[in-house]
Amino acid sequence: MNDATKNLEDDHVYILQLIDVMEVMSKSSEPDIADMEDAVDLIKSYADGLHHAKEETLLFPLMAQHGFSTQQGPVAMMLHEHTQGRAFVKEMSENIELFKNGDLSALAFIYSNMLGYGELLRNHIAKENNVLFRMADQALPKDDQEMLYKQFQEVENKCLPNHQKKDFIDRIEKLTQVYLPA
Ligand SMILES: [Fe+2]
Ligand SMILES: [Fe+2]
Repeated sequence: MNDATKNLEDDHVYILQLIDVMEVMSKSSEPDIADMEDAVDLIKSYADGLHHAKEETLLFPLMAQHGFSTQQGPVAMMLHEHTQGRAFVKEMSENIELFKNGDLSALAFIYSNMLGYGELLRNHIAKENNVLFRMADQALPKDDQEMLYKQFQEVENKCLPNHQKKDFIDRIEKLTQVYLPA
């Protein structure tokens, strides 16, 4: 398998794990606010931050150079879904603030947006793994794929202390132990 798309698929494994955690979280009548904030922060910093940055600033532009439109078709659809995901995250953040300020009705909105985000991203990741990345593997010359993988590593190495890929994965694993104990 191509190292560059493999790198993104590895991120997907942890993003899906975080979605599974949020699904369990959203069933609780006594929510742990710090854990919900942690989950939302992980989406912002890891799923949408690091991971979507690699797709949007590196993979998709490279695919565009090889004939994939960013206005229509599969790459455009992926970009659109990233935007839809951000709308769910914004709602989660805003409703967590309302809930912390005593608006108990906000909890249902936190949960519905967590579930909506999960459904969107599960489908999105399946499309990337099964279709879009396979198109990239076919369409991108080997040299470009190697360059892309190096660029992914540079982006990962530039992450701030405590915001390294391994820090995100550790936090996801910790939440998993609490919400989905083996
Ligand atoms: Fe994506
Ligand atoms: Fe992705």
